[in-house]
Amino acid sequence: MSLVEEPVDADRSAATELPASLESLALSAVRVAALAANAYAGFGDGKAADGAATEAMRHVLGETKGLGTVIIGEGEKDNAPMLFNGEQLGDGDGPRFDIAVDPVECTDLCAAGLPGSLTTIAFAGDGCLWSPGPGHYQDKLVVGPDARDAIDLREDAEWNVKSVAAALGKPVDQMRVLILDKPRHVELAAGLRELGVCVIMPSAGDVAGAMFALLPGTGIDLLMGVGGTPEGIMAACAVKVLGGGMQTRLAPQRDTEREAIVAAGISLDEVLDADDLVRGPAIFAACGITGGTMLGAPRRTAAGWISTQSLIVRPGSYRRIVESTPAPVPNYSAGG
Ligand code: FBP
Repeated sequence: MSLVEEPVDADRSAATELPASLESLALSAVRVAALAANAYAGFGDGKAADGAATEAMRHVLGETKGLGTVIIGEGEKDNAPMLFNGEQLGDGDGPRFDIAVDPVECTDLCAAGLPGSLTTIAFAGDGCLWSPGPGHYQDKLVVGPDARDAIDLREDAEWNVKSVAAALGKPVDQMRVLILDKPRHVELAAGLRELGVCVIMPSAGDVAGAMFALLPGTGIDLLMGVGGTPEGIMAACAVKVLGGGMQTRLAPQRDTEREAIVAAGISLDEVLDADDLVRGPAIFAACGITGGTMLGAPRRTAAGWISTQSLIVRPGSYRRIVESTPAPVPNYSAGG
């Protein structure tokens, strides 16, 4: 059942060329993964949650008509279970498409049973997603449609926050910026707070942070700071649909990562926007694992049904969806 359906400004939305079947595939993939991971929420084993969600997604994607190629699958940087970069899924009899995926975004929050973990996936046309190669981290700026032309990663944080404030028609001291709470961001957050900016700092979750910056009425004006590249590519898919603004630049966090990027011939200086990260139309979907402000956790009803909360962002609109089905839920874990 659709709770909210919001049209997207057609001029700002990408063209609608992806097969309609990919929308239900994205929703199925994030839903089965959320149900699988939720069984592990709060038991302290993030890798088990990741593994269960990964197998559930692999099963659903493997049964699809067509052929999806994983361009970027989260897991490599944390040595976690993952859908592998280059892995192909589907029966091959239908459209070809690209996949960016993180079966459990915010694994630590899932393991701790804390709000904020999501299953996430994004699709674009065949050959349309940019690959960061061995780059695991990137610096990001994400804003909604009204400030899409007001960001520039070549400028500093003060310039950007003032520019976005001007585009939104609000004083700087009414700006609300989301930055992950990481040691690398201590100075950035302190500098913004000196300007009177309210800085919201979750311990994890810059996919949700990007969605908050993009969607109206969330109270977040801007996402800033360094986060994962898979999360960045998925966010870029949502940015494309919603007509927001995004800029990124690779930001390796270790010498080995930096050396691998250079050896792969990928620029460390180039600033890429959403059109560089995703060519053509795209779909983004997420489903709540442990609940939170964005999407609730799976819930069992008195009648023995189970309901999930998902978000689908696809050319032309975005929707929040509550779906209820009879329990039990299929078990796709290895040997299950
Ligand atoms: P995980 O799925 O790896 O738990 O990602 C959580 C997250 O906070 C992302 O939202 C973010 O992009 C990334 O981690 C940042 O990585 P790190 O925690 O290594 O700084």
